[in-house]
Amino acid sequence: MSFTGSISNSIHLGDARRVLPGLLADGMEGSVKLCYLDPPFNTLGAQSTRGHYRDHRTTPQWADLMREVLGSVHALLRHDGSLWLHVDANELGTARLLCEEIFGADNSSGVITWERTRRPVFLHGQMSSVTDFILVYAKDRSKLRPFTDGATERSKRTPLAHRGNRAVELAFPPGTVKFNCGDGTYSAGDHSSPGIDAHLLKDVAVAAGRNVTWLHLTMPSRYSAAKLNQMISDGADFIVPKVPFRPSYIAPGGNPKLVTNLWSWQLESMETNEDAARQQKELHPDLPFPSAKPEGLLRKIITLASEPDDVILDCFAGSGTTAAVAEKLGRRWIAIEESPRTMNSYLRPRMAGLGSIGQIVEPVPDKPVVASHFQVFTDDQWGLVEPLLPNSDGRRGRPFRNQRQVVEGIAYRYRHGIAWRDLPEQFGPWQTAWKRHRVLAADGIWDRIQNLLQAEAYAAGATGCPVFVDSTFNRSHFQGSNLPFGTGNPANDI
Ligand SMILES: C[S@@+](CC[C@H](N)C(=O)[O-])C[C@H]1O[C@@H](n2cnc3c(N)ncnc32)[C@H](O)[C@@H]1O
Repeated sequence: MSFTGSISNSIHLGDARRVLPGLLADGMEGSVKLCYLDPPFNTLGAQSTRGHYRDHRTTPQWADLMREVLGSVHALLRHDGSLWLHVDANELGTARLLCEEIFGADNSSGVITWERTRRPVFLHGQMSSVTDFILVYAKDRSKLRPFTDGATERSKRTPLAHRGNRAVELAFPPGTVKFNCGDGTYSAGDHSSPGIDAHLLKDVAVAAGRNVTWLHLTMPSRYSAAKLNQMISDGADFIVPKVPFRPSYIAPGGNPKLVTNLWSWQLESMETNEDAARQQKELHPDLPFPSAKPEGLLRKIITLASEPDDVILDCFAGSGTTAAVAEKLGRRWIAIEESPRTMNSYLRPRMAGLGSIGQIVEPVPDKPVVASHFQVFTDDQWGLVEPLLPNSDGRRGRPFRNQRQVVEGIAYRYRHGIAWRDLPEQFGPWQTAWKRHRVLAADGIWDRIQNLLQAEAYAAGATGCPVFVDSTFNRSHFQGSNLPFGTGNPANDI
């Protein structure tokens, strides 16, 4: 299905997991040409966001967030569209697995290594990291055009001799080879050099810088005799610069040049984080956005993967680099950002400065982000609960299996006031939850979890729905309180 209505530039305030399904519900499936995602890298404090956003999820939490976002992005992409997912080494493996799961391994279109800094830091670890990665996935690789940048050089030479290859007899008709080593007749004989065994099989006459008789050579060759004959009948030109004879193919040039996957300031003056910091300082002298990407990086991505008027999506918009560059390049854009502060202090003013603030879409108040009926905690709540739990490290026996699933099972059982045996199977064996609860309750940890969630709920101003019913009665944050009050186990439904 493809969206037929017009899409105008828009800034959406809210969690991408909620905004994206809304775009799909508005009929935008199959309408985005390019999606660039620069999510929190999960650096666990290694790199400061200076309080601008949360960057300390566990890997499973990060994976949950990204799985949901990528699923919607996949549906929003056009059949010839592509995803560009920017990560650093922290979640590179997770990101790759998720993309393979959602886009399919066949649609992997490359992994770009971007040299993100000119100033390596040597503070800790075995080596200093200077690179980020951008995973590129096609919605359907057979429909995705090659990413080209400029044209191949005219007169670029490709030597025919290829050390280690099989010896091939090469035959060049009169007039097809240019000689830079002088006119005259060259006698048949040995033209070998270290590593290359080559022989001129017959005398060859050269006049006015070209062969006037056949040139017959044997040598280990890059091309087969059949391929060479095809090139000759297609009008290819060759050159022999000197003795011993080593013909090279002269490319006609002017063909589109495929981009490489190494984007480096050293090789091609690609912009780095230092450029991004300078750009931010110009936009916001007092408080630059800390993890903005440089405009040059986005300029390259957007130019490679879209045409004017195409729709560009960024679900982690931050200071709005993607939207700003898309606007400058005449593309339409959709920017999603969950932080009101970031949107109002960075994204909106930046787009206003370009004369294109677009439509602002604010969320309908608090409809929770819950992956399923059986997700009891929001990611934020789990972020509070998890540090309270004992770690399995250093304990004997098997490590705790799926900690979050089991703890959510316990909370679910409290919330619904059901018997342990009625715990829905989505939480794993009820016996595991029961045993874990005994340990947590005996250590006083379960009380601490309840108190903490209660405090959070009151701080958020929530009223109404109980998280836990049992001996204790707490109130939940809005985001934890949306589940219907059935037990979830079909056996208990009346
Ligand atoms: C690394 S920054 C993006 C920087 C951006 N590329 C730029 O050049 O300014 C990540 C942004 O994603 C936002 N964010 C994090 N989780 C989000 C979510 N679930 N939905 C929407 N935005 C989110 C953060 O508030 C932060 O502004």
